[in-house]
Amino acid sequence: MTQMPDANLLESLRQRLGPKGFSGAPEDLSPWLTDWRGRITGKAAALLSPSSVEEVQAIVALASQAGVALVPQGGNSSMVAGATPPVDGSALLLSLRRMRAIRSLSGDDNVAVAEAGVILSDLHVAAEKIGRRFPLSLAAKGTATIGGLVSTNAGGTQVLRFGTMRSLVLGIEAVLPSGERFDGLSALRKDNRGYDLRQLLVGAEGTLGVVTAASLRLFPSAGSRAVAWVGLADPQDALTLLRRLEAATGESIESFEIVSQDALDLVLRHISGTRAPLGDRHRWHLLIEATAPEGAADPAETLTIALHEAVEAGLIEDATIAANETQAQSFWKLREDISEAERLDGGSAKHDVSVAVSAMPRFLDEGAQAVEQRFPGARVLAFGHLGDGNIHFNVRPPVGLDDKAWLASEGTGVSSFVHDLVGEAGGSLSAEHGIGQLKLADFARTIDPVRLAALRAIKQAIDPKGIMNPGKLIPPA
Ligand code: MLT
Ligand code: ZN
Repeated sequence: MTQMPDANLLESLRQRLGPKGFSGAPEDLSPWLTDWRGRITGKAAALLSPSSVEEVQAIVALASQAGVALVPQGGNSSMVAGATPPVDGSALLLSLRRMRAIRSLSGDDNVAVAEAGVILSDLHVAAEKIGRRFPLSLAAKGTATIGGLVSTNAGGTQVLRFGTMRSLVLGIEAVLPSGERFDGLSALRKDNRGYDLRQLLVGAEGTLGVVTAASLRLFPSAGSRAVAWVGLADPQDALTLLRRLEAATGESIESFEIVSQDALDLVLRHISGTRAPLGDRHRWHLLIEATAPEGAADPAETLTIALHEAVEAGLIEDATIAANETQAQSFWKLREDISEAERLDGGSAKHDVSVAVSAMPRFLDEGAQAVEQRFPGARVLAFGHLGDGNIHFNVRPPVGLDDKAWLASEGTGVSSFVHDLVGEAGGSLSAEHGIGQLKLADFARTIDPVRLAALRAIKQAIDPKGIMNPGKLIPPA
């Protein structure tokens, strides 16, 4: 059990952090108390905004002494309310947004060292300036921060080729719940000295400490990219296409995203300036991106030939390749704005599930049928990272029903039903968004007891007072 923050603690923090680093003003706090999806609003007596790792250490040491909980927060773009404080006001909000220095960028080592508050798109820009790229990308790149991306082991749209954040992190600097600094900002590609604390902190959702900086792998800038939009009837054919494209283009396929016609319709309805890339309607659409290094042949040529053959073979119905960068960006907008369009359309039960890549086409078909049979009128909205076997398998209320009322009465049941289907298919109920608060009950219900015991033992060993982001990730006893 943690303690409520008292006036003494707040005063000590205020003195240590000064006016820029400490605020108890409701107008400063309120933008950060509700999760991105607007589903959970918490309470906190103060917003702590340190500008250095020493200040983070001071905050954690004071909180630890007082037994008061801290909720680390970056861009507040969590899909599972992982950075939203508890409703009882027992925790203080610890924002890393002022720690936004890119400490170094090395083209020789292909490593960037970025502080936790660096916004992902700022890192993209900085890396490009030295002819390198940081290849993780996602719709929230303009707000998501490095600390949050590390702490949630973020995925995104380039995982097919580069893996999740876990495979891009070389080292971490973090403040542990004792207030001590873990100085693991390595640029080493190989380091085999036993338990890997860095990997324990990646995806820990702030429950084992506060990530303050990370050293990250960089890659050569792409010389050219080709972005294709494809219409087809069957996700199984999409996977056949993916394997053919990989054989034809080597490692150049980076993104292989699927969008249902319903998802595309939502974007066209709610996001201004968008238009469908193909003339006809198709049951499913794909966004495919291939890149090539500087000096290599333009991937558009290989992609055009391969897609033409796929149309001839009846594998896909239609395809087009973006003629220029503006059009490429407009294709990506159609994919990246699905969540925003869905939010503007109203509430839905959102899921972020994975199964083996080869099992996904069947899951899409049979899962949607099962949901629609069990919850008559409910509408499955599926889109996402087909190349990784990770789909956002969301369920919208029946037409005409109030979304909030429907979610309140059916939401939990729908999500449990979907998660059970995923479990039966050998999959995961959180492929990339993490557990946070919103997945915690189903995670607790379905987790293997052996794994749960290990998880709790690790948490107890590193955070014995339980002050780091309580109520997230670790199922309560
Ligand atoms: C996406 O793939 O667009 C994101 O994970 C967001 C979402 O699931 O809504
Ligand atoms: Zn996603």
